[in-house]
Amino acid sequence: MALSSDKKPAQVETTGHVWDGDLREYNNPLPRWWLWTFYATIVFTIVYWIMYPAWPVFKTFTPGLSTLTIEQDGKMVEVPWNSRYLFIQEMQTSPSAVRQREFVEKVSNASFEQIVADPSMLAFAPSYPSLADNEWLWGGSFATISNDLHKGLKGNMPAFPTIQGAALTDLSNHVLSLSGIEVDAASASRGKASFAMCAACHGADGKGNPMLGAPNLTDMAWSNIDVVGASTVDAKRTMIEGVVSKGIQREMPGFANRLTPVEIKMLTVYVHELSGGQ
Ligand code: HEC
Repeated sequence: MALSSDKKPAQVETTGHVWDGDLREYNNPLPRWWLWTFYATIVFTIVYWIMYPAWPVFKTFTPGLSTLTIEQDGKMVEVPWNSRYLFIQEMQTSPSAVRQREFVEKVSNASFEQIVADPSMLAFAPSYPSLADNEWLWGGSFATISNDLHKGLKGNMPAFPTIQGAALTDLSNHVLSLSGIEVDAASASRGKASFAMCAACHGADGKGNPMLGAPNLTDMAWSNIDVVGASTVDAKRTMIEGVVSKGIQREMPGFANRLTPVEIKMLTVYVHELSGGQ
């Protein structure tokens, strides 16, 4: 029973213990709002255990009933909710991923003439890699070039808008240091840990992965940004920061339906020879 305002303290029940002859302890009930909040947290916890990954069980854990839908091998599949799958889902449904899908659809329905005439489709790919050097994002063998010309390519570097401020500066200094550019060494070494997020595509040593079209960051060949041309280290770093914050979506359409096999073959040899080839 709550202590109502007209009740004298002496009328409230005590625990019955008496100390020092006259010290007693009131047995007031907990305030109701407090008790209900407490019960609510217990209910919340139980619901959370049931819905989300919670309890360790030997080498695994209780996955929870909550699920996410992600795309796997071209199919939409339902997977248990966890932060790893949530990350994958965000990578697939982020604004840049959605933009890329819309672009692919637009390009696949457009003729070459329409693509060239449409500034938005052209602007989507702000710069193109040089074909005359021997640096290949996707590999430069005859077989690879021919395959790329048939099927087209999609360069997709996700944006990392959550990396900001000093963390972004440190990471960008680390990236510059990979190709031997002189930067603030302390900052670059602080940035090394964040590079773990980049290593999945660019490799732990930053040497790139032609399967994903992820460029080697340790050479001096830059295909999206003119790092070599930038005159100050700050300007170079700003370019890297831009890539990390905004990501890169670049598209080359496939030509299998637009060129004959012989034309693709000749083009393959031509592109291969432009650089000396691999
Ligand atoms: C999902 C794979 C992936 C991840 C993760 C990734 N990248 Fe990339 N990155 C790419 C691809 C693919 C390209 C090339 C895109 C293109 O040009 O078509 C690229 C391009 C770049 C470039 C431009 C290189 C050039 O020559 O123009 C820089 C710089 C870069 N990434 C840095 C980073 C950093 C720093 C991180 C970590 C925060 C990171 N990347 C994470 C895939 C990835």
